[in-house]
Amino acid sequence: MSNLIQAGYLVSAILFILGLKGLGRPRTAVRGNQLGALGMLLAVVVTLTNEQIVAWPIMIAGIIVGTVLGALLALRVQMTGMPELVALYNGFGGIASVLVVLASYDQVIHTGTEDLTYLIAAAASAVIGAITFTGSIIAFGKLNESISSVNSSLIRPANAIMLVGALAAGIAFVASPQGWTWLLILTVLGLILGLTVVLPIGGADMPVIIALLNSLSGLAAAATGFAIGNTLLIIAGSLVGASGLILTQVMCKAMNRTLTNVLFSSMGAGGATVDPNDVYEGKVRTTSADDVAMILDTAERVVIVPGYGLAVAQAQHAVRDLTRTLEENGTEVVFAIHPVAGRMPGHMNVLLAEAEIDYEKLIEMDVVNPTFAQTDVAIVLGANDVVNPVAREADSAISGMPILDVDQARTVIVIKRSLSPGFAGIPNPLFAADNTLMLFGDGKAAAVDINAAMAAL
Ligand code: TAP
Repeated sequence: MSNLIQAGYLVSAILFILGLKGLGRPRTAVRGNQLGALGMLLAVVVTLTNEQIVAWPIMIAGIIVGTVLGALLALRVQMTGMPELVALYNGFGGIASVLVVLASYDQVIHTGTEDLTYLIAAAASAVIGAITFTGSIIAFGKLNESISSVNSSLIRPANAIMLVGALAAGIAFVASPQGWTWLLILTVLGLILGLTVVLPIGGADMPVIIALLNSLSGLAAAATGFAIGNTLLIIAGSLVGASGLILTQVMCKAMNRTLTNVLFSSMGAGGATVDPNDVYEGKVRTTSADDVAMILDTAERVVIVPGYGLAVAQAQHAVRDLTRTLEENGTEVVFAIHPVAGRMPGHMNVLLAEAEIDYEKLIEMDVVNPTFAQTDVAIVLGANDVVNPVAREADSAISGMPILDVDQARTVIVIKRSLSPGFAGIPNPLFAADNTLMLFGDGKAAAVDINAAMAAL
């Protein structure tokens, strides 16, 4: 039976790796996701066959409760709420590791079978899992704006002290476990650290933190795998840990931040305060769907820049229809994708894929930027921070963040409802630039209106 379980775990691990590989490209992402889910189902079923772990009825009850909750959450979540859901999933992963390791320790102290590997793994799992749990809850609260950032001047020194305390408790636990005391101290310190490390971090940095917490949830699972001797948990946890870390790095690069910078100084906290009136007053030029249609009618190349507002407006299908109209008119149309446009990694790719917009048309920032100078019209639909030229200046809250150089296009059409700022909360001089026209309104309605106006030309 044990060989059968190990063989099942091996197949699951292969499915996880193939799944991850598939997730690396939009075209194979759905298949990758399915392979990963199949691997997980196999892992659960194989684990079910090992009745030593837990009795069948409890396993089946667990699968049913988990499936129902997961399906309800996934069906009800809005596209714009995905990052919050991911934050919660990370937190659940963290607390699951803590609970498994505490339950296993309960067995171990009764049988007296703790060895050095077990103790190190249990300590790591408890503290990392606990940090992941409370850190993710705070990240969830910050993303849905129910928790705001707190002043970090006192918290950060306290964190350093708690970190040293956690390290000391971990060493004490490994050197001489003495019942529950050290493990519980370690867990409680982890829970507090998760809260206090994430609390001072600004909302704009939450995507990076969520990727990091994702990585930590994987590391906690891998440590739990070492503690309970489960090879699949070690493999799956390491895969999540490594991919989460790579994603963290990719996102840091996209926002021109280092991880230390994200953890120890808040984005949005720096930069001079700018009065929106100074930026916009008397300089903003508005336009209408009819005028935009006329401009587009003669354009040879159009670049559409989707942003968070496109997701809010659910404008992807209307934008696809507009793209088709333009292409039938002989215009070349591509989409410029900023790595942190929207509210989650790959947000724009997922939305545009949902509307069956060809992947080949989605051009990454580094490739599309040099082409803006040869672009007749850039349509910025619900994007703001990712096209804000103040990022090029030294003293702004988003200084150094790479942006899409839409201002180099001959004409820029910005579609949004008002002059409200984006996620970083700062004015955008692009809206007042000489070559910019603002089309105020909902993103979907605007795309529909422009399409209708083009048909009427
Ligand atoms: P934002 O800078 O957040 O701007 C979105 C704009 O969409 C807003 O200014 C808003 O203006 C407009 N909008 C909202 N609803 C709309 C609607 N129904 N129709 C038309 N426009 C609408 O978006 P972005 O440019 O995509 O930048 C993303 C920002 O989020 C970055 O600062 C990034 O760091 C941050 N962030 C990213 C992620 C990831 S991983 N992608 C996660 C969390 C945070 P109006 O209200 O005037 O319409």
